[in-house]
Amino acid sequence: MTDTADTRTDPVVDAPAERCPVHDLATDYDMFDPDYMRDPVPAWAELRGTCPIAHTERNGGSWLPTRYDDVQAMARMVPSLSSLSPLVIDLPDEIADDPATGFFSGYNAGAPISADPPVQGWTRRLLLPHFTPKAVEPLRGYTERLCHELIDGFIDEGGCDATAQYAQQIPPRLIARKLGIDESRGNQFTEWVRNAGELGQLDPELRVRSRKVIRDFFHSEVADRRADPKDPKDDLISALLESEVEGEPITDEMVVGMCNLQLVAGIETTRSSIGSALWHLAGHEDDRRRLAAEPDLWDTALEELLRFYSPVTMGRNATEDVDYGDVAFRKGDKILMNFPGANHDPEVFDNPDVVVLDRQRNRHIAFGAGIHRCAGSNLARMEMEVALMAWFERIPEFTLSDPDAMVWSGGQIRGPRILPIAFG
Ligand code: HEM
Repeated sequence: MTDTADTRTDPVVDAPAERCPVHDLATDYDMFDPDYMRDPVPAWAELRGTCPIAHTERNGGSWLPTRYDDVQAMARMVPSLSSLSPLVIDLPDEIADDPATGFFSGYNAGAPISADPPVQGWTRRLLLPHFTPKAVEPLRGYTERLCHELIDGFIDEGGCDATAQYAQQIPPRLIARKLGIDESRGNQFTEWVRNAGELGQLDPELRVRSRKVIRDFFHSEVADRRADPKDPKDDLISALLESEVEGEPITDEMVVGMCNLQLVAGIETTRSSIGSALWHLAGHEDDRRRLAAEPDLWDTALEELLRFYSPVTMGRNATEDVDYGDVAFRKGDKILMNFPGANHDPEVFDNPDVVVLDRQRNRHIAFGAGIHRCAGSNLARMEMEVALMAWFERIPEFTLSDPDAMVWSGGQIRGPRILPIAFG
């Protein structure tokens, strides 16, 4: 039995209403199938044993590796497996080819995640100094205050939506602080990235509209700073505008794309991880009580929750025909970097489908592998640690109040989107 199957909940998911049932995972898996969105662990286990690199024609067609070693190897097949278009579902040609919306793939879309070397390398190097442990640590005090203020807002109510009122309130403010944009617009930023990403996956018009809103916003922020420069120490946008690569300034278009990525990567991922952790602990009394009683467990527990509920699956595009073992990727094929599935491979993790709070050997790849490994992992870990520890300090005892109302997001970033929690 998988750990997620053990929660006695029947959460709903925000999958599109009508989808054909999946009869054969190996040839027809569906990332938006309600069962898969609710709990993908059994599907990965079945595929690992029968067809470890599955294929589907759904959603534009893609390949799904489920073994750790395969995901690790594919993440390193650069540039044969390219990141220029890392979304699983491409836009229809008529939209993608329109110059007015042609910012959806390629270097300018959201480097470094949407780039291959050499652009990936230099855009990544520009970002890394802003996300070292030393650069992130000064945000800890602010994050603690923010978490306690959020809890103050609902603790007397006896319950809350732990996504809307807590998990999703933290990352947008942190990334807004980093970028030097208006923190009080956190909910709006979350709505933009959700529409551009999660909900826009199956709705091209919404995706285009929302991406344009985000890009217009950052174009205007860039123009403001061109007119009135800010201290780059407190403002990542200004730092990027001031940076040079081989003696040349980087273009505004590139800065806008990099900021777009910061918003998307900074918000959807981390709120998913915080939400999944709270979901797990609300539904697993033994783990919840153990963590409350043994705070020394937090270090290993956080890594274990990241492993078990890894939220991010990015896509790659084959730039040429490539043979990988028995599988032949053809030029143009999509390949899903199934980091979440790799993290449940029994060849690498003992008892992978159970959360083990004190797991000692945990080489998970929730933050990816190879050249695109997450540039924001120090910030993400700090946010998760502070958010969960502050919650436990104030609310050590909590449960799922309405499991039927629970909503999981599907597609490339998986996490709770509605999470009703009760506490005494
Ligand atoms: C728990 C939270 C997070 C998870 C699980 C996560 C996961 C990932 C993964 C799997 C990748 C690799 C994508 C690929 O191979 O195509 C990635 C890349 C990236 N992440 Fe994160 N991420 C998280 C939070 C953040 C945060 C807070 C930021 C800060 C803004 C961030 C910024 C980035 C950037 C810039 C990249 C691209 C790196 C490159 O292409 O060189 N992430 N992340």
